Amino acid sequence: MKYYILFGPPGAGKGTQAGAMAEKFNLKHISTGELLRGEIAAGTPLGLQAKALIDAGNLVPDEVVEGMIEDKFNTIKGVDGFLLDGFPRTEAQAVALDEILERRGEKLTGVVSIMIPDGMIMERIRHRAEIEGRADDARDEIILNRISTYHAKTEPLIAFYKASGRYREVDGTGTIEEVRERIFEIM
Ligand code: AP5
Ligand code: MG
Repeated sequence: MKYYILFGPPGAGKGTQAGAMAEKFNLKHISTGELLRGEIAAGTPLGLQAKALIDAGNLVPDEVVEGMIEDKFNTIKGVDGFLLDGFPRTEAQAVALDEILERRGEKLTGVVSIMIPDGMIMERIRHRAEIEGRADDARDEIILNRISTYHAKTEPLIAFYKASGRYREVDGTGTIEEVRERIFEIM
């Protein structure tokens, strides 16, 4: 099985690119953000717990998303691998992912990282806010908190994965098609 991480700051284009990547390589796309929004929409206890954190642009507890990922690995069949979008997002989650994979006798295939400058994050998310209505896109201060949370907690993972030799970065600026071609080239 292949295990890819689709890495990048908020608004980099992870969700946008994931569909084509999953289709081309027969991967199951797993977005922890989408799973959490699903829990909120369904009004589950987990959703109720997560809502305030997500709406403020803060991370949910590591154990919550780690459990979700392992559950998906255990239950999804009929694919050649997984494309993890928005997970891991902390060093603890990265260590947990290694442990989950080890229990399965598997290894991380690679990290595909989409990079855009902070200024472009704001622009893209403001644009998406008009279309999708995500609560955490609604106000600039929440977007700014997501950007600073990314720099503080998630960006250190770049060094973590570079050290493993499995990290590849693509320029996330340009058209959606241009970015997709860059991704396919490195995959
Ligand atoms: P999550 O849903 O993962 O949000 P995010 O990381 O902030 O990323 P986004 O979904 O905002 O960006 P994206 O890269 O998918 O961009 P998109 O393709 O939509 O997480 C939400 C929250 O859930 C977190 O804040 C946290 O609270 C919680 N959470 C999730 N995972 C967690 C974890 N592991 N641990 C703890 N908490 C967790 O693109 C953005 C816009 O740009 C779109 O409008 C798109 O059309 C446009 N666009 C994309 N590419 C281009 C392009 N090349 N040119 C022009 N426009 C483009
Ligand atoms: Mg997304």
